[in-house]
Amino acid sequence: MPVLRTEDLSIRFGGLAALSGVNFEVRRDEIRAIIGPNGAGKSTFFNCLTGVLRPTSGRILFNGEDITGLSSDRISQKGIARSYQITNILPNATTLENVRIAAQSRRHGWSMLTHYSAYRDIIAKADAVLGLVSLRDKADELAANLSHGEQRNLEIGIALATEPQLLCLDEPTAGMSSAETHDTMQLVRRIARNLTILIVEHDMQVVMELAHRITVLHYGEVLAEGTPAEIQQNPKVLEVYLKT
Ligand SMILES: Nc1ncnc2c1ncn2[C@@H]1O[C@H](COP(=O)(O)OP(=O)(O)OP(=O)(O)O)[C@@H](O)[C@H]1O
Ligand SMILES: [Mg+2]
Repeated sequence: MPVLRTEDLSIRFGGLAALSGVNFEVRRDEIRAIIGPNGAGKSTFFNCLTGVLRPTSGRILFNGEDITGLSSDRISQKGIARSYQITNILPNATTLENVRIAAQSRRHGWSMLTHYSAYRDIIAKADAVLGLVSLRDKADELAANLSHGEQRNLEIGIALATEPQLLCLDEPTAGMSSAETHDTMQLVRRIARNLTILIVEHDMQVVMELAHRITVLHYGEVLAEGTPAEIQQNPKVLEVYLKT
């Protein structure tokens, strides 16, 4: 069974069909890239999967369960997390607090804060996540003081702290130096051992190196799907996207 499947997923904004009839499936052990020109519907697709937007029609199945139209909190509880195209951290909290708050929302809700053992459990989880995203030495630094690349990785850490089965990354390397991009690719590979990853990315080198398969969106429709080698040679994809 695929971990995620969409059936005829569509969303309209007034007269604009941002997604039309998207049939999509991803396997549990996959890193899947979603590419396409600006405005193709990539972020909108993530917004539908994560309950930020309600699709106009169609269904979203997660582990076979229909999650279409559930709130983003419910979907997070079920195990889908995402990072945003624009960084979404709490700048005036420390690195550790940012991750701790996310871990807490997943595990116990807010009321459990008073229980010391639960709190210790959450701190241990947050610390493990900081290790995974290589930010342990920045735990007590205010998030605002981290470099851009560190902030983007912190955002991945915040998503991981909710213990997802499926992680949606929206342009995780945007604005990064080539060294930071390289580190983030290593990070994505590392975390992909334990969860399914959907990654929206404009950097084709990153896409071709990371993804097992690629889905190309164009005007809200799936234009092509295949391995990196297949996509690089697909005439339709070259025409609308890779050539430009
Ligand atoms: N909340 C919204 N209300 C109205 N229109 C929207 C909304 N969100 C997205 N759109 C429109 O839907 C289309 C798809 O946008 P989306 O952000 O999904 O594109 P994208 O593929 O992520 O592009 P980019 O590569 O630039 O991030 C665009 O035409 C956009 O203007
Ligand atoms: Mg986008």
